[in-house]
Amino acid sequence: MGRAFVYVILGGGVAAGYAALEFTRRGVNPGELCIISEEPVAPYERPALSKGYLLPEDPPRLPSFHTCVGAGEEKLTPKWYKEHGIELVLGTRVKSADVRRMTLLTVAGETISYKTLIIATGARALKLEEFGVHGSDAENVCYLRDLADATRIVDVMQSCSGGKAVVIGGGYIGMECAASLVINRINVTMVFPEEQCMARLFTPKIASYYEEYYKSKGVEFVKGTVLTSFKFDSEGRVTAVNLRDGKQLPADMVVVGIGIRPNTSLFEGQLTLEKGGIKVNGRLQSSNSSVYAVGDVAAFPVKLFGEIRRLEHVDAARKSARHAVAAIMNPNETDEFDYLPFFYSRVFTLSWQFYGDNVGEVVHFGDYSGKTFGAFWVFKGHLVGSFLEGGSKEEYEALAKATRLKPAIEDLSELERHGLSFALAV
Ligand code: FDA
Ligand code: NAD
Repeated sequence: MGRAFVYVILGGGVAAGYAALEFTRRGVNPGELCIISEEPVAPYERPALSKGYLLPEDPPRLPSFHTCVGAGEEKLTPKWYKEHGIELVLGTRVKSADVRRMTLLTVAGETISYKTLIIATGARALKLEEFGVHGSDAENVCYLRDLADATRIVDVMQSCSGGKAVVIGGGYIGMECAASLVINRINVTMVFPEEQCMARLFTPKIASYYEEYYKSKGVEFVKGTVLTSFKFDSEGRVTAVNLRDGKQLPADMVVVGIGIRPNTSLFEGQLTLEKGGIKVNGRLQSSNSSVYAVGDVAAFPVKLFGEIRRLEHVDAARKSARHAVAAIMNPNETDEFDYLPFFYSRVFTLSWQFYGDNVGEVVHFGDYSGKTFGAFWVFKGHLVGSFLEGGSKEEYEALAKATRLKPAIEDLSELERHGLSFALAV
């Protein structure tokens, strides 16, 4: 049993949706393109899952957040794929890949062959079991990577309204889910090993602002420790979490966000890997010229910093996918991918954006007791990164532009004095 396509996208997440749109814009013919996804639904905007999807009032549901609405583009519903002759093979996991033979084998036993493959398999949530903690398959312990996980969180939240949640991890999932839990009237305690939230990105000063804001919403923080085990009732539901420092926190539900691992396993030993992902060049092409990789799974050269990076953010997924398709369909007119890293989050009424790289010396600016503040990162005498909370569209655009230009910074105190107006003047 087998089918053959010119182009196959393996994975049906954010990157797959944006790649499909780009393929149609560049004139793919009906029947040439196939998307294979383990998920039972067409590509959707994953960021919605930790924000609107979890809200108690009028939460968005599919089809409202199919890609590519997140970038203000067309909404690609299953009907759209049909009309464009794109084969959506949903609810289907690929269990092995042979890049020499150019074939993929699905768990159903079907062989799908390609001339060009785009790997867009994203990542999986790390499980507590990988840190030696058992029992995270209990019905009130939740992870969040896909729609099924988000639906489960909604169900569990409804069953413990007014109760207590312990959120494990102080990264993106932890912060965004904690906010959603509070809005659902659940009492939240966050537990993480670092001394501050969002330790991969925030400075202690930035983190302190968000932590104080969360505390004002009733969130408690237990820092510098990790969960070592769960306490269960006779039905196998978690009733408390035990921490390394000996504390026990009662819990009606637990949400875990302790990082991800890129889904590379199908290609290990076949393609070159780097930074935990599939190494690609500036055309998003892997060590095998018929195979491209995009999104969370791709480690690509960030020209601006002269380094290979793997970025776990939606903007990188969207743009790397579109660039790969341009490189495949119009190779002679497509330059090397030149990407400015961009991360953002929205929690409660707060909203921040970050551009570039958070290395070097930090200059904070703005009013940290008010609504608009930020920071610049200066490395080897140049502005390389910028962060802003509560900015306007124009201010964020200015920040992005200034960061991309990497202007020379001679005097840090001058930069501090000018603050945001420095970026607006660049
Ligand atoms: P993505 O994970 O979207 O898709 C991968 C797809 O491949 C999945 O459909 C999966 O089932 C499929 N797949 C994997 N292996 C397979 C196999 N063997 N066979 C078949 N199918 C397979 N970023 C940001 O910048 N701002 C934000 O606000 C958020 N918010 C956010 C919320 C939540 C809850 C999550 C989980 C993530 C975010 N992100 C984010 C990160 C962002 O969503 C992420 O970077 C992109 O989804 C990455 O897109 P990809 O297409 O690479 O992977
Ligand atoms: P993360 O890397 O942002 O944070 C992981 C956190 O896990 C760390 O901050 C740390 O506090 C904690 N941790 C690590 N080991 C631990 C342990 N043994 N016990 C307890 N805590 C531990 O990862 P995440 O929050 O799980 O997010 C998953 C993915 O989803 C990331 O790729 C992220 O970029 C993406 N995401 C992005 C956004 C956004 O960009 N706004 C929103 C949601 C999710």
